Amino acid sequence: MDYRAEIIRLKEKLPVTVAGHFYQRDDVFELADITGDSLELARKCQADNNPWVVFCGVGFMGQSVKIIAPEKRVLMPKLAECSMARMIDASYFDESVEYMVKHGIKKEDILPITYINSDALIKAKVGEMGGIVCTSSNAYKIIEKGLESGKKILFVPDRCLGQNFANTMGLKSCVIGEGECDPKEADIICFNGFCAVHQLFTVDDIKFYRQRYPNILVAVHPECDPSVVKEADFAGSTSQIIKYVNSLDENQKVVVGTEYNLVNRMREKNTYVLSATKPECPTMNETTVEDLYKVLKSIEDNQPINEIFVEEDVAKYAKLALDRMLEVK
Ligand code: 13P
Ligand code: SF4
Repeated sequence: MDYRAEIIRLKEKLPVTVAGHFYQRDDVFELADITGDSLELARKCQADNNPWVVFCGVGFMGQSVKIIAPEKRVLMPKLAECSMARMIDASYFDESVEYMVKHGIKKEDILPITYINSDALIKAKVGEMGGIVCTSSNAYKIIEKGLESGKKILFVPDRCLGQNFANTMGLKSCVIGEGECDPKEADIICFNGFCAVHQLFTVDDIKFYRQRYPNILVAVHPECDPSVVKEADFAGSTSQIIKYVNSLDENQKVVVGTEYNLVNRMREKNTYVLSATKPECPTMNETTVEDLYKVLKSIEDNQPINEIFVEEDVAKYAKLALDRMLEVK
């Protein structure tokens, strides 16, 4: 079957919008009506007029759209979850709060911030405690806003994002379970989660490229280790990396530390991949054109598959945390 032709036919016929993250495989990405980084995709899906959203990405992305736009029917071609989001569950979150309480910080003096790469249950716990969601593109503004409260920030689940923004902002951070982490001595206390894909990039990779091409620039995602981000010329969300690369002179070489599909799509731009291995996100790569076809066909057949539902109680508090983020311009 010509899946591509069928997908185009179904998109023309149905009141549906296909959203696609930059890490999706090229053949899927090319069929998306809206693309962007996590924040842009959330905002664009919320503002979109179609009642159906088919989200090509990972679980927390479709789930976030369902929470901020509950009237929409959200389907995902593959119900694949980001491995970092799976590193923290409700009990790990509670233990992190307890850790801070044991170290002399009152619960009411803790402001939790969760990276959007987390389950709705974590967002709900954060929302209930007065906390907020952030993405890699707005973390600076969100942390700045969080600091205004005068509270200690508990940052989950990505220790790298928490530490990298703390470094950029001149704040002290520590990671629970890694060396001495005294919450009284730090401004941002991070949970010990990470992205396995972005851990592949190392300072040695940067040194290798700089030795080979002395004028090369280095752009990385803030999910990379703090040692890598410190060495880089630029760190930003997927959209911000694309804008940075597009702003460079066409003769300027740039090596990029983020997921392979995105970097490969920019190959005509004098761009290199910051790794000797192929840094693919396994879950982002699970979605195929056939999966996209099947999910669209299920709408045509009035038997939708892979629909995203979020329990009412969870959605209520998770929405608080997401809406607080979306209010920050
Ligand atoms: P962005 O919000 O920068 O698109 O990042 C999403 C992600 O999962 C990065 O690994
Ligand atoms: Fe999650 Fe890392 Fe994949 Fe992004 S690249 S979706 S953080 S596992």
